[in-house]
Amino acid sequence: MKQFGSHIRSSLFKSKIIFLFLLIVIAVPCVSQNKTTIPVETSQNALVLQMDKDNHPLIIYFGKKLSNSAEYATIPGQVLQHDGNAGIYNSAYTPAGSWSLVEPAIRLTHADGNTSLDLLYINHQAKQEDDNISVTTVLLRDPVYNSEVTLYYKVYKRENVIEQWSVIVNKEKKPIVLNKYASANLYFMAGDYYLRHYHGSWASEMKPEETKLTAGIKVLDSKLGTRANLYGPPSFMVSFDKPATEDEGKVLLGTLAWTGNYQFDFEMDSYHNLRLISGINSFASEYTLNPGQEFKTPSFITTYSEHGTGEASRNLHNWARKYRLLDGQGSRLTLLNNWEATYFDFDETKLTGLFKDAKKLGVDMFLLDDGWFANKYPRNSDRAGLGDWQENVKKLPHGIGYLVKEAKEAGVKFGIWLEPEMVNPKSELYEKHKDWVIRQPERPEHYFRNQLVLDLSNPEVQNFVFGVVDSLFIKNPELAFIKWDCNAVIYNANSAYLKKTNQPQTHLYVDYVRGLYKVLERVRAKYPKVPMMLCSGGGGRADYEALKYFTEFWPSDDTDPLERIYMQWEYSYFFPAIATCNHITDWSSMPLKYRTDVAMTGKMGYDIVVSKLGESDLQFSQQAVANYKSISDIIWHGDEYRLASPWEKPFAALQFVNNSKDKAIVFAYLTNFRFMNTTTSATPVQFKGLDLQKKYRIKEINLYPGTTSTITTDTVYSGEYLMTVGFNPDVNTRRTSVILQVDEAR
Ligand code: GLA
Repeated sequence: MKQFGSHIRSSLFKSKIIFLFLLIVIAVPCVSQNKTTIPVETSQNALVLQMDKDNHPLIIYFGKKLSNSAEYATIPGQVLQHDGNAGIYNSAYTPAGSWSLVEPAIRLTHADGNTSLDLLYINHQAKQEDDNISVTTVLLRDPVYNSEVTLYYKVYKRENVIEQWSVIVNKEKKPIVLNKYASANLYFMAGDYYLRHYHGSWASEMKPEETKLTAGIKVLDSKLGTRANLYGPPSFMVSFDKPATEDEGKVLLGTLAWTGNYQFDFEMDSYHNLRLISGINSFASEYTLNPGQEFKTPSFITTYSEHGTGEASRNLHNWARKYRLLDGQGSRLTLLNNWEATYFDFDETKLTGLFKDAKKLGVDMFLLDDGWFANKYPRNSDRAGLGDWQENVKKLPHGIGYLVKEAKEAGVKFGIWLEPEMVNPKSELYEKHKDWVIRQPERPEHYFRNQLVLDLSNPEVQNFVFGVVDSLFIKNPELAFIKWDCNAVIYNANSAYLKKTNQPQTHLYVDYVRGLYKVLERVRAKYPKVPMMLCSGGGGRADYEALKYFTEFWPSDDTDPLERIYMQWEYSYFFPAIATCNHITDWSSMPLKYRTDVAMTGKMGYDIVVSKLGESDLQFSQQAVANYKSISDIIWHGDEYRLASPWEKPFAALQFVNNSKDKAIVFAYLTNFRFMNTTTSATPVQFKGLDLQKKYRIKEINLYPGTTSTITTDTVYSGEYLMTVGFNPDVNTRRTSVILQVDEAR
């Protein structure tokens, strides 16, 4: 990235050289070295704030950290932005309605109806929580209205991650309205900016798009309410100067920890610098704060690397496993799920048969999916029963308890699917509690997957949702897993509860998500460790606030392995493999080995009819489960490296290396099956992350019964050789997927 001290845009020089010369002469002496300067530093990077002469907080630097932090103070003297408007471009939290004319981070309406805001520095504090974590807070106040904002910068030093949020306090005597209330406001100076962001839909999540940002504002957002990430997750990356590659280039990864509507504004200002504002989407969400009340925004989490997307993603993985994802450093259960195997069509006999299949396969758990509940309107399709969480007596006459017991006898654990935030209009819950449903009473209902959303802003609904989970655990203490689904968006956003309690309807989107967190807090207070999968009709929820409560998430209902290679590739920039559920299903006709090898790069599971597997397929799968268990520690807790991108080559290759660098696993998949695709096997793939000095032996694992490997195990290679010359996994149309185990030769 262009640093404030290093490059001044040549175009500016060309067009305005005399004018700028004058400015340098005038501007430099104006820069006082005594201005309050606040460096927020990770082990490699720095974000630096400085107050201007009137005490406005500005971002004066973002990039590689300097060894002498005292030098940051003089950076503004190198930057030729001394006309009246420029100062506010780099505001650390841009207020609206006073002297800023660019996209604000905060806009509010005071108690008297006035809409102006200015924010001046009052004080700051830096607190060290331990040897890795520190929190810097910067208190700002409006000199006229007393409104207060505190900016928080939490630094995870070793992981090079900064978590930002803000707290807005109403210090006036009457309510104020927050019209926009961002989590973070950043400012970057570089030659150019390349934004990689994601779009998609059901079964086609996480499609990347990379675009060079131009003047104006590019907005990424969601207005779906629940299932907010269906058309795009709250995650992106920005490369500076040129598009970053896996190992080169300056890149910022950003992600908003919020399970609802989000908004990112990327605004290029008139100096070709990039302003970034991120937070809750304020669309239809003006929020009233009563006197003394505060609003804490969600966290915006970033990591910055000058060594490409690979390092940046490993920063985020390390941070997530250690500090965010529930049980991120623990282990996960392999499972057999019955969704694609049975859909709604099952009974006790069928299920107990599946328990035995799970055991035969060798997985840890059986997961009972949708369709087990509701009696008046049985859940035999997605058209009825949602909300009525009593076992369907026809399908399950002996209840869940019996299934838990039978599973145990078969030698596997038992987990269950829930979608507790939702309701079918054809349900007893809807009949009894229409007032609990998000709907416009005067308008026709609109359904998403034949269902509606319960109003989680209502504490009674929160109790109900918590009760669904709680009573399952009370009755079945040995329940081992929950798959928590969320299949509908919010249409007709309107809350009977907010109306009844005289609160603005514009609180609904925010209070829904807060209500959800309240429920999840209660679940985790009582059941701290039970693994839970965050699912949302595929990948409609993938964010780091929800993942405080969940051990893993379901990236997509699309389990076609070829599609998954691309999808998992993109998700892997933001989420570690241990969090990503990959199931082997019959969705595609690709060979079982290919499907299995692709699923192994995350948390592997099955959703197939085991009894229909031929003898070799069964034998292969049993061996695959055993193989997975022997290497999962490296996949879950090791460092992930992307070796060959399927977007660029006719194959994909990725690698996981354990911390002591004596074990690695390499996965390679053919992704283009065209005849005479000579580029696949022709060249070796350079491994990464090994120890240059160590010697390694390579063995192909997870072979299909009756096949032999073309890889010989007798050669010993140095780490240097494998990372410089590389190794050829020999992927071709007869060997479409290959897994290599790399072990230190001792
Ligand atoms: C969603 C999930 C699926 C399955 C179904 C059940 O679509 O993504 O995995 O659980 O719901 O209705």
